[in-house]
Amino acid sequence: MIVKETNRKAIVIGTSSGIGRALARLLGESGYEVGLAGRRIELMEELRREINAPTHLKAMDLTCPDEARELLGALIDEIGDVELIVVNSGVGHTDPPWEEELKIMRVNVVGFAAVANRAMEYFIERGSGHLVGISSISGLRGLRAAYSASKAFDSTYLEGLRLKADRLGLDIQVTDIKPGFVDTEMTAGREDMFWVTTPEEAARQIYAAIRKKRRHVYVTRRWRLMGWLMKSLPYPIVSRIVSRKR
Ligand SMILES: NC(=O)c1ccc[n+]([C@@H]2O[C@H](COP(=O)([O-])OP(=O)(O)OC[C@H]3O[C@@H](n4cnc5c(N)ncnc54)[C@H](OP(=O)(O)O)[C@@H]3O)[C@@H](O)[C@H]2O)c1
Repeated sequence: MIVKETNRKAIVIGTSSGIGRALARLLGESGYEVGLAGRRIELMEELRREINAPTHLKAMDLTCPDEARELLGALIDEIGDVELIVVNSGVGHTDPPWEEELKIMRVNVVGFAAVANRAMEYFIERGSGHLVGISSISGLRGLRAAYSASKAFDSTYLEGLRLKADRLGLDIQVTDIKPGFVDTEMTAGREDMFWVTTPEEAARQIYAAIRKKRRHVYVTRRWRLMGWLMKSLPYPIVSRIVSRKR
């Protein structure tokens, strides 16, 4: 059942496809006024027509971090009194060449930090707010070098921002979402996936975590067990599992 919110405003960065698109739609259905950001403007225009709520749109490329920060500031000013900002944008491939690894780091590390930091600046100025970052279960071990490292960065960066808010004694929540496998453009064609969920189910669980102001969440919930295993297994066992899959 969808609980209708009133006078609530959110921004989701990375809404042209996948998890971000489903989450933006769900926030709109739940009564939020929603700011959409990403590069593929035509897909977001289409989403805008589907969402039955006021929406705002900004073309934003996280590989241009200074510009992305400015655009996020402009989107916040346009919407006004935004209480929730979700940094969802991300790219990832298995064993990519260096050029793709660099892109992963530009988007998932520098771009992610640029807008998460800008969101935090705004919430500090506002005195409250909720920052949500989509990292990944992949960040728990170096299973895919650049992608895993970038997602470990995202989780640690979010923890740093949460501790900063605690130090300042402000009512700012920071939620780190760690998805397992979700059936999106990013995972299209992969044949090694299991426990795969839809973007819609992922969005439902993310929204539930937002409402409960959770600090860390695995999506779907069963990935919590895998998260514990991934953190606990000694390196030689991880290496054996990965080598057997070849
Ligand atoms: N699917 C999974 O199994 C899975 C698992 C764990 C974590 N995640 C994470 O979940 C998040 C969403 O991914 P998804 O699975 O929904 O994949 P997706 O459908 O490929 O969505 C990725 C989103 O990121 C945006 N994006 C990519 N490059 C960008 C850039 N340079 N600047 C701004 N936005 C950019 C894309 O929008 P534009 O292309 O329009 O810019 C798109 O909206 C990512 O952070 C991903 O790492 C996914």
